[in-house]
Amino acid sequence: MIEFIDVTLTYPDGDHRVTALSNVSLVAPRGEVTAITGASGSGKSSLLAIASTLTKPDTGQVLLDDEDITALSSKQAARLRRTKIGIVFQSANLIPSLTALDQLLVVDRLGSSVEKAKGKDRLERAKELLEKVGLAGNFDKHPHQLSGGQRQRINIARALMNEPSMLVVDEPTSALDSKLGSEITELIVSITCEHNTATMLVTHDRTHLPMMNTVTEMRDGVLTVATTSPLKLSA
Ligand SMILES: Nc1ncnc2c1ncn2[C@@H]1O[C@H](COP(=O)(O)OP(=O)(O)OP(=O)(O)O)[C@@H](O)[C@H]1O
Ligand SMILES: [Mg+2]
Repeated sequence: MIEFIDVTLTYPDGDHRVTALSNVSLVAPRGEVTAITGASGSGKSSLLAIASTLTKPDTGQVLLDDEDITALSSKQAARLRRTKIGIVFQSANLIPSLTALDQLLVVDRLGSSVEKAKGKDRLERAKELLEKVGLAGNFDKHPHQLSGGQRQRINIARALMNEPSMLVVDEPTSALDSKLGSEITELIVSITCEHNTATMLVTHDRTHLPMMNTVTEMRDGVLTVATTSPLKLSA
């Protein structure tokens, strides 16, 4: 579970500062997708940057499985990212010269629980994850031989390599057409259930919101919970 408690973040802006997040409080439980919607510039990516320890808030606490991640040194934060946090951003950022399988195997694994596993186990895990995201038969393909949707599937599989307790996903479907976008969103929902991750998903696409456990909206750095468990409500 990740919990934001009264989090405020400002950025320098000339002589003064711009407020990106204003007293944000939020709980994203494991096994659920918490969607973050809102206009451009409202603070969505800033929230994910804090969740993934890439940015520290000015004030407030962020607890990941009860550990305050805002208090970590940069070295500790880097270790936490390798062991507990899976990050999926809009562009897949794959390495052009590597095959699909190798994209997963090069995941920096220093200090991770999987590190101790033998190379063979990592290979098996990488294959299993690629199969899970629908890429069986594409292990040896390079990024340029794959579609945008397939590249995003590798991106998701790679984020799962070190068994994260949290998945941080920023607009994974914005470069895809609506059918592929729905498939990727469905994949993220099913992976969240199966791997029991606390998933924070930023999305612009309102058609996918009924699949989410909780939908929040960011407005000028202020977060409101719009709906909880729309699926359960409509069931
Ligand atoms: N590194 C930075 N330095 C200064 N200001 C920043 C920085 N990153 C973001 N901002 C500002 O913080 C506010 C929130 O930005 P953020 O990127 O979180 O928005 P967003 O909701 O993700 O937008 P989008 O939907 O366009 O991705 C904006 O006013 C933006 O200009
Ligand atoms: Mg953004």
